[in-house]
Amino acid sequence: MNIQTALRAPVAPPLDAAGKFAADVVAGLTNKPKSLPPKYFYDHAGSALFDRITRLPEYYPTRSELGLLELHSAEMVSLLPPAAALIEFGAGSSRKARILLGVAANIEAYVPIDISGDFLREDAAKLRRDFPHLAIYPVAADFTVAAELPPEVATRPRAGFFPGSTIGNFEPHEAAAFLRHAGRTLGRGDVLIVGVDLVKAPDILYRAYNDTEGVTAKFNLNLLARINRELGGNFDLATFEHHALYNVDKSRIEMHLASTRRQKVRIGDVAVDFRAGETIHTENSYKYSVESFQALAHGSGYTPLKVWTDGLFSVHALRNTAD
Ligand code: AVI
Repeated sequence: MNIQTALRAPVAPPLDAAGKFAADVVAGLTNKPKSLPPKYFYDHAGSALFDRITRLPEYYPTRSELGLLELHSAEMVSLLPPAAALIEFGAGSSRKARILLGVAANIEAYVPIDISGDFLREDAAKLRRDFPHLAIYPVAADFTVAAELPPEVATRPRAGFFPGSTIGNFEPHEAAAFLRHAGRTLGRGDVLIVGVDLVKAPDILYRAYNDTEGVTAKFNLNLLARINRELGGNFDLATFEHHALYNVDKSRIEMHLASTRRQKVRIGDVAVDFRAGETIHTENSYKYSVESFQALAHGSGYTPLKVWTDGLFSVHALRNTAD
């Protein structure tokens, strides 16, 4: 469905992915202040840029989390039941799950849930080669809404895995909703292992989102390039700047795209006016203390079991105790 059909339909038909993207973009850009949902960063180009971000010297979260997983994986998997199915929410590549799978004799099945079905299938094929005794059931679905688990894992004890501090890209109430929904996908008594970036000195955070190579700026601007590619937009990328700042009161990094001049941008037949300096808010990345995250988890039906940290990043093991 194109943008015009998506917007003009008098009775909204169910939207396909392209129609939903169009509707979300127009809703966000006609909002005051303007905003765009961060989930749209991750098209092919955006995913490749994010991969480059994870290897930047200033972007510590991925390195920190990998270090914590390497160091403590044996203890992490010792909290999981025998013959468990590991359910990974928003799997992307299984790079982090592989660390747990490599030490876990008690994990017999792996269920990566991700929106990108093609990517999941490719990755599952590689995993099958490396872990021939592991049963792998990829699920192509939006992991933020309740997903049906394959019948093969219905009878197994389960454990959840949500690395990467993706939970920080949700508003706190959305993070709580995600935790409650993950708890229902798992089951009472099951363990969820989740990676969470920590509150820290603002200059470390600032540098992580304002790298000297400008990869994060490209990642942010790719959102406009994607609108041009997929929705017939005419954003001139040279007239938008990447801004990332740490909002101390809200404990979050905010990313924005600022128009360097007054201009009109077209997306299909929709026109959007920008004042000079006006911004589009593209992402929040919330940072938690160990205690503030445990309080959020507790309020969402979990009992904190254990936390591992290197002072920069934290990995929590939580038990789902919701009824
Ligand atoms: C995916 N997510 C946890 C990243 C973050 O740090 O919030 C996304 C990102 N945005 C800019 N750099 C990385």
